[in-house]
Amino acid sequence: MEQVQVALLGLGTVGSGVFKMIQQNQDVIARRTGRFFNIRSILVKNLEKKREIQEIHHLLTDDYNQILRQQIHVVIEAIGGVEPARTYLIEAIKKGCHVVTANKELIAKHGRELEELAEQHGVRLLYEASVGGGIPVIGTLEHFLKANHVYRICGILNGTTNYILSQLSEQKREYTEILKEAQEKGYAEADPSSDVEGRDAAYKLSILIRLAFDADVPVEQIRCRGITDVTSGELELADRLGYTVKLLAQAEQFGESGPIACSVCPTLIPKSHLLSKVNDVYNAVYLEGDRIQDLTLIGQGAGENPTASAMVEDLCNIERWQSFRRVKKAEPWIVEGAAEAGTQ
Ligand code: NDP
Ligand code: HSE
Repeated sequence: MEQVQVALLGLGTVGSGVFKMIQQNQDVIARRTGRFFNIRSILVKNLEKKREIQEIHHLLTDDYNQILRQQIHVVIEAIGGVEPARTYLIEAIKKGCHVVTANKELIAKHGRELEELAEQHGVRLLYEASVGGGIPVIGTLEHFLKANHVYRICGILNGTTNYILSQLSEQKREYTEILKEAQEKGYAEADPSSDVEGRDAAYKLSILIRLAFDADVPVEQIRCRGITDVTSGELELADRLGYTVKLLAQAEQFGESGPIACSVCPTLIPKSHLLSKVNDVYNAVYLEGDRIQDLTLIGQGAGENPTASAMVEDLCNIERWQSFRRVKKAEPWIVEGAAEAGTQ
């Protein structure tokens, strides 16, 4: 049995889920991959914090250099934010480690730089968990839609806001109470303004645009509106008119290598449409391509287990990812009315 030495950065919602999955699913992982993943070290910020998982204190450190001094094959990053995560991953790649991350902000802003560095050093950078939680959308684009011209992406890409909108529509409760609940369930970001103001969905859309359209659209150029100013009155009115309000992330490319319209904003969806039935923490990604025609993926978009699942699957699939796409830049062209894409 091949032993793979793993360092885990972060032991919050996602890091804990990854740790537990590697321990609890060891048998099936070993049987199917022929590998034993050994977590050698776990990086945390606060060594004094009380931990839910017992008997791991000998693995904890707040010193990244100590991790780099060990023989590590794979670094799994679940601390979030751009820094120090970016620096840590650069150092890991330069040391020859494969990297698995759930960090959409980092991949949206520095994915190209990190992919190129990984390529130079002959290691893999995998980030399935960065979009759609447990939904294998990145794998689908990378492995199963390589020969398609994908020209439309439309989806519910944030679990926290979908949970809030679903709960607000179904039960007459306060927004702040529901947001607190989403935080307690581990769905929200450390700074939940990223969820409710739409930035989290914009990071994810930017990653999907890069993979689907081979184009680089900086997050700042994605027209973005969150759910903070959506009122219960508006949700009730939408309901009476036969619509559901969803925070929709949409992108469409007009012609091969053509301009791209993209946005994240609360959108009216007819109740008869599949996306209107995607509730709570569920996410959905709808893709259109010239041969696949249309494809919808639905699953849990946030939380400990679905996110851990995506990361551990990446860990098990490292050698499957043979090459990385060289992305080319395309000028985004924001077209009003793009919000109707994919909801007909
Ligand atoms: P948490 O806030 O629950 O956990 C963050 C962990 O990282 C904590 O263990 C914290 O240490 C550690 N940490 C933070 N900063 C540092 C630092 N500077 N040095 C060392 N350790 C640090 O976050 P989540 O687990 O929810 O999210 C982690 C990542 O996963 C983020 O990028 C997030 O966007 C992404 N993600 C989250 C999902 C979710 O459903 N929650 C789903 C998909 C992706 P300590 O415990 O000591 O405070
Ligand atoms: N905060 C994110 C969400 C986590 O609610 O979708 C999953 O990326």
